[in-house]
Amino acid sequence: MKRPVVSVMRRISMLSLILLPLGFANAGQGDDLLNARCAGCHDLKGPAPTTVQAIWERKGPDLFYAGNKYRREWLARWLQAPVRIRPAGMFYGNHIKPGPDGDEIDQGSLAPHVKLSGSDAELAASALMDKKAKSDLIKPGEYHSGTISKSMGELMFDKFRGCLACHEIEPGYGGSSGPEVYTVAKRLQSDFLISYMRNPQAWDPKIFMPNKHLKEQDLPKFVDYFKVLSEEDFK
Ligand code: HEC
Ligand code: HEC
Repeated sequence: MKRPVVSVMRRISMLSLILLPLGFANAGQGDDLLNARCAGCHDLKGPAPTTVQAIWERKGPDLFYAGNKYRREWLARWLQAPVRIRPAGMFYGNHIKPGPDGDEIDQGSLAPHVKLSGSDAELAASALMDKKAKSDLIKPGEYHSGTISKSMGELMFDKFRGCLACHEIEPGYGGSSGPEVYTVAKRLQSDFLISYMRNPQAWDPKIFMPNKHLKEQDLPKFVDYFKVLSEEDFK
């Protein structure tokens, strides 16, 4: 009874090899590339760290919900020409040293990011966009663009909410423990930004960005402000 089963199985697998659609083959290649060259520093599977210690030791941002977070065209571009996003690395405590004017960033401790060829960057970007964990936190289309003046945005971000303590709003101006926000509108999807600011810990339970319980009506205004900043084109 065993033999026919084996031969049928063999025939099916031969057939699937021949008929494997190109897109599917590419998706497999993209995942292979991520596993071989990225998994050493990035969590591609989840779940997010559940201890503060694991946050300190994280080597790169979690990518298992990349498809809900990044703009695909930004991913493909950045992976070919990566530039720093977090001025003091993943955890600033690991990359600051005492200087004459207080703590300064130890640039020598921050390694440049791996750079991909154009075709590998496209493969990686596609495979990353398929990673859609935590979709329940995204309300597709909830962001509607509005307008805000730069000074009003700055007032909210800096004075009222104290976000500037951890985020730069232009190169070299603002805190260095979080990612720069003057490029964030180009990097990340608007609906993700709203969801993340609503509750950072829903995405990353132990992240040290405080939940400021921002008003629902203010969430899109922050995104509008990030868009204003991104038009300044510092980089
Ligand atoms: C040696 C560790 C290391 C390896 C290997 C690595 N990365 Fe990274 N990656 C990092 C670090 C650290 C950052 C944060 C850079 C910053 O903020 O300036 C990062 C940032 C990123 C970002 C931006 C994420 C964000 O939220 O800001 C993407 C996308 C990314 N990496 C993808 C990849 C891909 C794809 C590969 C494999 C081809 C890869 N990385 C390999 C360490 C690594
Ligand atoms: C105590 C420091 C701190 C404060 C204050 C803070 N953040 Fe953050 N923020 C962080 C950290 C840390 C992250 C996540 C970093 C990561 O993913 O590597 C983050 C992530 C973000 C992101 C996603 C950016 C990205 O590139 O992934 C946005 C948007 C953001 N913060 C907005 C805000 C706003 C708006 C405020 C004020 C209401 C604020 N933050 C206050 C530390 C802070």
